[in-house]
Amino acid sequence: MSERQVINVSTEEALRQADIIHKLSQSLKGKDLKYCVSTFGCQMNARDSEKIEGMLEEIGYKKTEKEDQADFIIYNTCCVRENAELKIYGRLGYLKTVKQKNPNLIIALCGCMMQQDIVLETLKKKYNFVDIIFGTYNIYKLPELMQTRLETKAPVIDIWDSHQDIVEDLPNTRKYDFKACVNIMYGCNNFCTYCIVPYVRGRERSRELSDILNEVKALVNDGVKEIMFLGQNVNSYGQNLSTPVSFAKLLSEASQIEGLKRIRFMTSHPKDLSDELIEVIAKYDNVCNSVHLPIQSGSTHTLTAMNRKYTKESYLELVSKLRAAVPNIEMTTDFIVGFPGETEEDHLDTLDVVKKVKYAGAFTFIYSKRTGTPAATMEDQVPEDVVKRRFNELLALTKSCTLENMKKYVGQTVEVLFEEISKNDETVLSGRTDTAILVNVKAPAALIGNFQKVRIVDTKTHYLIGELVK
Ligand code: SAH
Ligand code: SF4
Ligand code: F3S
Repeated sequence: MSERQVINVSTEEALRQADIIHKLSQSLKGKDLKYCVSTFGCQMNARDSEKIEGMLEEIGYKKTEKEDQADFIIYNTCCVRENAELKIYGRLGYLKTVKQKNPNLIIALCGCMMQQDIVLETLKKKYNFVDIIFGTYNIYKLPELMQTRLETKAPVIDIWDSHQDIVEDLPNTRKYDFKACVNIMYGCNNFCTYCIVPYVRGRERSRELSDILNEVKALVNDGVKEIMFLGQNVNSYGQNLSTPVSFAKLLSEASQIEGLKRIRFMTSHPKDLSDELIEVIAKYDNVCNSVHLPIQSGSTHTLTAMNRKYTKESYLELVSKLRAAVPNIEMTTDFIVGFPGETEEDHLDTLDVVKKVKYAGAFTFIYSKRTGTPAATMEDQVPEDVVKRRFNELLALTKSCTLENMKKYVGQTVEVLFEEISKNDETVLSGRTDTAILVNVKAPAALIGNFQKVRIVDTKTHYLIGELVK
């Protein structure tokens, strides 16, 4: 399909939904309706929820954080681990009682979990009070699904097996005025053997370079200072466009946008992180010196079984290259403990990488069997007690290495973009350095959204403590 057709088809669809939004807003006028969105999972879902909120607000709903005051409740779900799904079923049990008290309440479910047949069957059988169900490929259709629900008063289920066109120009809300996430691609082609994402998010597809740059320019005009580019594997951005473009090219183009102070990106698959990208990180000041580089395991044996397509050695070499080109770069990572067949030696390899890389932060997950993935039927599933012990060892080591790494900041003056009032102390603001380290500083709320020089006076494992430099 030509580039022009893709744009036309999706614009047409966006216009059709805009028309429905208009009709709904007329018919619901004056009803003082409220919505409550709960988002589970990763940044992809968080970004999708902003689009969902944007559509609901245009229809005329106002936001509430309280489910018992809402007329429309939607859960944007995740299924990357079993826990994520159990959480949703638990919350649905409670929602049933809320709906009994308020029969006019509309309950909607969407997101990754809905893309699984087994989930749909369970919902139909045990949770038939849910009004609207849709998946990851047709978020933009929410207005139409709501219209159908209101007209027919019957449950509406609309799940697609695969994506169609990328629909640009959806209404939108933003959590922060000064920073925003921008999708650069959807889906994933990597099929890591433990991972369900390619099955629920479909094949990789990139947005056109010009669409992305236009979105960033509009955000910057609107006061945004920091952009986070999102994709399951940003390093393979643009490969499947009719005119292929590299991620490094996108970053260098975006870095020229006047007024854009910081560019971040997530997630980088180690197998695709190019020398060209390292050069771009090194060259442009507004491309941040931090990279989330999930390793999953430090053992080449486990990495091969995971289908990650790099080795312990090639990963460590990549880390050295990044550090040589960008000396102050910080790295964060993800680990999976207890992948099928993981031996004590494999575990020790992971601990060895932690000592060598000195991550600024790590997310450590216990392997969760996902039906339909190759790893689910692999032999040698690791016994629970062994997994727990390895998990605790890895957690303790990552914590102590991270703390060690943080100590170097004490005494330094860094630039911090203040983001929000700290959850634990309302006289303290939290912000981040260029290297994505969290910093807590006693400062007035008026500084939120501003860059300030901060002198670091102390450190905890996960954040620095600083003072404003006058
Ligand atoms: N695209 C990203 C990761 C997306 S999922 C990447 O390739 O790095 C986020 C994290 O969830 C993964 O990095 C992995 O550590 C974890 N994860 C994914 N599937 C999992 C599973 N079945 N069990 C436990 N953790 C899992
Ligand atoms: Fe999952 Fe691997 Fe794709 Fe990341 S790269 S989303 S871990 S399949
Ligand atoms: Fe979860 Fe879907 Fe993200 S499964 S981690 S919300 S892509």
